[in-house]
Amino acid sequence: MSDRLFIFDTTLRDGEQVPGCQLNTVEKIQVAKQLEQLGVDVIEAGFPISSPGDFNSVVETSKAVTWPTICALTRAVEKDIDVAAQSLQYAKRKRIHTGIGTSDSHIKYKFNSTREQILETAVRAVAYAKKYVEDVEFYAEDAGRTENEYLSRVVEAVIKAGATVVNIPDTTGYCLPTEYGNKIKYLMEHVDGIEKAQISTHCHNDLGMATANTLQGVLNGARQVEVTINGIGERAGNTSLEEIAMILKCHKGIGIDTNINTTKIYPISRMVSSLMNMPVQPNKAIVGRNAFAHSSGIHQDGVLKNVQTYEIMNPKDVGLEDNAIVLTARSGRAALKYRLHVNGVDIEDESRLDKIYQAFLKLADKKKEVTDADILMLAGADTAETHAVSLDFLQVTTGKGVKSVASIGLDISGEKFEAASSGNGPVDAAIRALKCIIHRKMVLKEFTIQAISKGSDDVGKVHMQVEYDGNLYYGFGANTDIVTASVEAYIDCINKFRN
Ligand code: KIV
Ligand code: ZN
Repeated sequence: MSDRLFIFDTTLRDGEQVPGCQLNTVEKIQVAKQLEQLGVDVIEAGFPISSPGDFNSVVETSKAVTWPTICALTRAVEKDIDVAAQSLQYAKRKRIHTGIGTSDSHIKYKFNSTREQILETAVRAVAYAKKYVEDVEFYAEDAGRTENEYLSRVVEAVIKAGATVVNIPDTTGYCLPTEYGNKIKYLMEHVDGIEKAQISTHCHNDLGMATANTLQGVLNGARQVEVTINGIGERAGNTSLEEIAMILKCHKGIGIDTNINTTKIYPISRMVSSLMNMPVQPNKAIVGRNAFAHSSGIHQDGVLKNVQTYEIMNPKDVGLEDNAIVLTARSGRAALKYRLHVNGVDIEDESRLDKIYQAFLKLADKKKEVTDADILMLAGADTAETHAVSLDFLQVTTGKGVKSVASIGLDISGEKFEAASSGNGPVDAAIRALKCIIHRKMVLKEFTIQAISKGSDDVGKVHMQVEYDGNLYYGFGANTDIVTASVEAYIDCINKFRN
């Protein structure tokens, strides 16, 4: 009989920490519901003390899902634990995830403390969390660089204090796979009472080894893995859920199973990528655009003779249904609804579908073929009208040897405003015109333009970072016209200003 591996998803916590990836509560609930459908065991829904938004997300996620355990992160600080417990009040199954840095560099530079004091703080935090919930997970931050003998003392002590799960994070993504695997093995062999708790992996991808390290952890006894959709997370990201799930599915000989319904992988990958405005690299394992595309003649020939020649997985197993339905200006609402469904977006409200369909027809008039990325963008864009500021019109004259001039119309809470300006290029002219209407001290810090796939008729995606009142705001725009997309991204930032 196979052993069971528990999947702890931290897309909504470690993943959401990535600059520009912040979700609002409604979006987090959408992701959480899909994670439940996917079959994850634990959803880490946030770090409640960090902001009212995070607190609220844990509350609402707890109400929205039934089966997965909802987990809230804390530092080893009583106030954090009080707030986490409060945020979990509606969770049917709840877990507090508390912890502290255990490597010498964390102890010395972060806490100016000693190993003994850190050990005491760890035990106290677990015992304190235990007053609120039965299920307490402890993380030894930077365990990857923590000396094994001291780590095993910490693990033993927190298990004695009642920890049900002990997380061994390779916080900096430094470990080699053998080193990380040996660390887990060492703990399994040296910690008294280890059988009373579950050991968890939490690997970062700074050197591209997160999945390899996680797998080594599992092969050496860890029975929970902390992962994210598309591998998003701090810096180079976390171990990706889809990679671990498919490794275990393809290598049955390992003898370890998860509860993941792998056919839901592709839709949730698209959904997370679209809601977080975080493109998936085309060659990303399992969910990248090219993951199942055979382009060389030799490979195509082999696959046509027998798919097993070059395919180790069936694309259908990850939810990649046949892409035969190509959306064009002649496609109907049903085809649009179906493709949105394949991409993880279920639209039941007919009037919402109709709005997206009208936007789709406009886009299909400009583009020969409307892609999945386009329709996801349209499905997300239909909430824009609830924002205080929206773009009414934009006209730009530009070219070689002439000064760029833009006139712009904005709708601000139902009132119309117009202005014009020249500038050092079309985007500069348009933003200067916008600033003639919105007189705030805003500074553009970052500006990236990216085509969604290919072709001069493609939709350009713009990510912007604007500084205002000491805070950074991230905005996103998508349009076949990149100047319009840029202005929309700028407006998206403005709509997020806190005052
Ligand atoms: O990477 C890490 O160490 C973490 C902990 C807070 C679990 O994310
Ligand atoms: Zn992490």
